[in-house]
Amino acid sequence: MDTFAKPQTARLEQLILRPALEADLPDLEWGGAYLHFRRVFRHTFELVLAGRAVIWLALLPAVGLVGQLFIQYSCDRRELADGKERAYLYSFRVKPEFRSQGIGSAMLDRVEADLRSRGYRIVTLTVARDNPRARALYERRGYRIVAADPGRWRYPDHLGVWHEVEEPAWRMEKVLEQTEISATSRAAGG
Ligand SMILES: CC(C)(COP(=O)(O)OP(=O)(O)OC[C@H]1O[C@@H](n2cnc3c(N)ncnc32)[C@H](O)[C@@H]1OP(=O)(O)O)[C@@H](O)C(=O)NCCC(=O)NCCS
Repeated sequence: MDTFAKPQTARLEQLILRPALEADLPDLEWGGAYLHFRRVFRHTFELVLAGRAVIWLALLPAVGLVGQLFIQYSCDRRELADGKERAYLYSFRVKPEFRSQGIGSAMLDRVEADLRSRGYRIVTLTVARDNPRARALYERRGYRIVAADPGRWRYPDHLGVWHEVEEPAWRMEKVLEQTEISATSRAAGG
């Protein structure tokens, strides 16, 4: 799917970035490519409803979904997300035919600004060790490697069959610069 996608020009000024609604969940399956993650998406949406996560979408008029990025505000691994200072970024992808045109960077800009406005100071993520291009993008944006991560996780597919994943990764972090406004609103408890 990735290798043979014919590049399409994106008009970045038309890009819409917004949190997903329940009705958007089927689109996250990308026409079947991510059908196996159906239950994972549903579970993430339950976290959204509980105020523990947000699913960001990038859309283009007449095209629809071109990118997605998940944020968890809190999770069991406190070094990734602690509900206060650290938020965890994952499941970040742009459709192959729209890559390398700035959509991913626009999404990161928006998401980092949103986290900053909520008082978060650190964005965490893991990037597979065999994904140097994504790592380069993160490094250009100020993310730094802080630890090795075994990258082990498991998920139930759409039929309820569990899969074990092992994808050795680097854990990266970026310290968000506080703007005067968000620093003030934190001090005021806002
Ligand atoms: C990483 C990704 C979300 C970035 O989105 P994007 O719209 O291509 O990002 P931008 O156009 O703003 O920035 C382009 C940079 O992203 C990185 N990138 C581009 N294509 C990529 C790919 N297939 N895989 C990984 N990184 C890629 C490169 O650093 C690229 O810079 P370059 O074009 O100078 O080499 C997107 O490329 C993608 O979906 N890649 C595959 C999935 C993935 O690796 N996700 C990250 C998991 S941690």
